[in-house]
Amino acid sequence: MRLAMTYTRLRTEERLLLDSFESIGVSIDPIDLRSVVFDPTNPGAWAEYDAVVDRSLSLTNSLTSVRILEGHGIRCVNPVRTIETCADKLLTTIALHGAGIPTPEVRVALEEESGIEAVEQIGYPAVLKPTVGSWGRLVARVNDRDAAEAIIEHRTTLGSVQQGVIYVQEHINKPGRDIRAFVVGNQVVAAIARASEHWVTNTARGASASGLTITDDLRDLGARAAQAVGADICAVDLLEDPERGLMVNEINHSMEFRNSIDTTGVNIPELVAQHVVNVCEGAVSC
Ligand SMILES: Nc1ncnc2c1ncn2[C@@H]1O[C@H](COP(=O)(O)OP(=O)(O)O)[C@@H](O)[C@H]1O
Ligand SMILES: [Mg+2]
Repeated sequence: MRLAMTYTRLRTEERLLLDSFESIGVSIDPIDLRSVVFDPTNPGAWAEYDAVVDRSLSLTNSLTSVRILEGHGIRCVNPVRTIETCADKLLTTIALHGAGIPTPEVRVALEEESGIEAVEQIGYPAVLKPTVGSWGRLVARVNDRDAAEAIIEHRTTLGSVQQGVIYVQEHINKPGRDIRAFVVGNQVVAAIARASEHWVTNTARGASASGLTITDDLRDLGARAAQAVGADICAVDLLEDPERGLMVNEINHSMEFRNSIDTTGVNIPELVAQHVVNVCEGAVSC
């Protein structure tokens, strides 16, 4: 079996993954995408690989490389369909809704005036966020019409074309935390709660993570959400609604897990490495 892992920077996660492959006795070639020249019509040396694990830090690099490699018929973890869907909050909403998975209500508009109408349809407080983004950047809670008008005007005037897509979500009155379920091969293998004084609970924004028991509900929703986007490996983020229970907010196709190994007592990178091997051997169909 020949495996490669593409990356743009070897973070702790990528080093842990490489160590895990080694510890299960599987060799994997780390390939720095910054040094690669692809020929989209000829796989060249890539043809020798049975599977490629995408760990690029940049979404554009992930999409570009995985599109080309899949074009050469190489099995990529995760597949490009998964990356495309998870990277885009609107596509995620559509996939989750299509699979009957509870997710916050959303409205989308393309102009300033209809954007404000979208917020009014959702009601206050509403959450505005870029369809493509991470680490809580530009995620805004809007409590009244004045704020909605200001944020939408700023987005449509100062932002890129992409910021002109007004994606409005209902605000979930969660209990000061959100939940992340790590899914490997359709199994929720570990879960954490991310708690913060601030309503935005990304650890990149200072939230603290703690291990969480995997309930039946979490196990079921995590696995179904991963399946809805065709993910081999992903982190499913959920919000707890006081009345409706768990709702899936988003799915991360290239998860960070360095701070969740000790917190959960689960060796996430080793489970990932083993799953890649299983995928490769065709023991698991995803
Ligand atoms: N609809 C919502 N209701 C309540 N909290 C939310 C909602 N949307 C986002 N949040 C909070 O903001 C954080 C970041 O939002 P998220 O949609 O995950 O964007 P990002 O991709 O930037 O992480 C979430 O982890 C959660 O704490
Ligand atoms: Mg998030």
